[in-house]
Amino acid sequence: MKTYRVAVIPGDGIGKEVTPAAIRVLEGAAARFHFAVTWDEFGWGSDHYLEHGRMMPADALDRLRPSDAIFFGAVGDPRLQDNVTLNGLLLPIRRGFDQYACVRPSVLYPGVRCPLVGKAAGEIDFVVVRENTEGEYAQVGGVVHSGGPHEIAVQSGVFTRYGTERVIRFAFDLARRRGRKHLLTSVTKSNAQGFSMAFWDRVFADVAREYPDVRTESLLVDAACMDLVRRPESFDVIVASNLFGDILTDLGAAITGSLGLAPSANLNPARTFPSMFESVHGSAPDIAGRGIANPMATMLAGSMMLDFLGETAAAASVERAVLAVLAEGTTLTPDLGGTATTRRLTDAVLARVA
Ligand SMILES: NC(=O)c1ccc[n+]([C@@H]2O[C@H](COP(=O)([O-])OP(=O)(O)OC[C@H]3O[C@@H](n4cnc5c(N)ncnc54)[C@H](O)[C@@H]3O)[C@@H](O)[C@H]2O)c1
Repeated sequence: MKTYRVAVIPGDGIGKEVTPAAIRVLEGAAARFHFAVTWDEFGWGSDHYLEHGRMMPADALDRLRPSDAIFFGAVGDPRLQDNVTLNGLLLPIRRGFDQYACVRPSVLYPGVRCPLVGKAAGEIDFVVVRENTEGEYAQVGGVVHSGGPHEIAVQSGVFTRYGTERVIRFAFDLARRRGRKHLLTSVTKSNAQGFSMAFWDRVFADVAREYPDVRTESLLVDAACMDLVRRPESFDVIVASNLFGDILTDLGAAITGSLGLAPSANLNPARTFPSMFESVHGSAPDIAGRGIANPMATMLAGSMMLDFLGETAAAASVERAVLAVLAEGTTLTPDLGGTATTRRLTDAVLARVA
């Protein structure tokens, strides 16, 4: 029997609740489709930091490297600064394993209440491809005269031609493959950021010449935010920098019902290192420990993981099971207007997978 080795990092807050819930469902799919998964759990995150002074051990990437994929919960803890937790765990994995294409679908599923008036299920269906290894999150900069009246903070965005071109090319390939509108929208702020973002626009125009069959559109990020609310149905694939992609995908999750439904794949398309699958949401300290987190985003991320591993039938069955529970509407968590717990919802999805 084919066996996959998946590293699991539940992380912090609701990450510790939604990850085991999703794993139950993925195990159900594995049993039904006759493959096995070995789940290697790593207890890294904020508790690890408070005990050992770092979010994960120095050899963490070496320990993750042999895995076929990484399944990640969430990171963030009110006891620690967010820049410490994020830069100590998630970002080094994304960069270290060259997971340069962060793929985040936003779909309005049947049974989900859309906060925008008059939008029917399926009408909103786009994917954001977020550059994931450089840009505004490159962690280049510093602070001098710390805490004093002359304190200076400098944070640089890093945009390389190599990094920009490859993520744009990935997005064009996706727009070509998706078979919907064959439209790729590039989002920048090149009117204000005349170096890095104007450079992105130029690279976008260069790569576009290789894809005459894909229509293109360029938007400033402020206009893109407005249009995602005004005309979300017009988008197909969106490509954006690390920061803008991060922001736009929370907006995408909000207009399609809940952060609890938004999955994310951090892909190393060349497969030189493992890719990582997680939800868009964070550790949600406001609801952590209450057993009411929606695990569907993590389940859908698990479905993306199975798809990437080549288990396409199992991946589809997990997605179908989530959609069936959503459409039925009787076992939903509070973020979707229901009263179900994480456990009850997981039982309902699992029953449909098995
Ligand atoms: N990828 C990540 O791990 C990631 C992403 C974003 C934020 N964070 C971190 O998470 C922490 C909390 O950040 P935040 O509150 O801005 O964002 P968040 O995504 O954790 O939560 C935002 C809101 O959405 C709700 N929510 C999120 N996921 C949900 C789910 N699965 N089910 C039901 N409700 C859900 C929360 O209860 C909260 O009200 C911070 O420390 C932040 O740095 C981590």
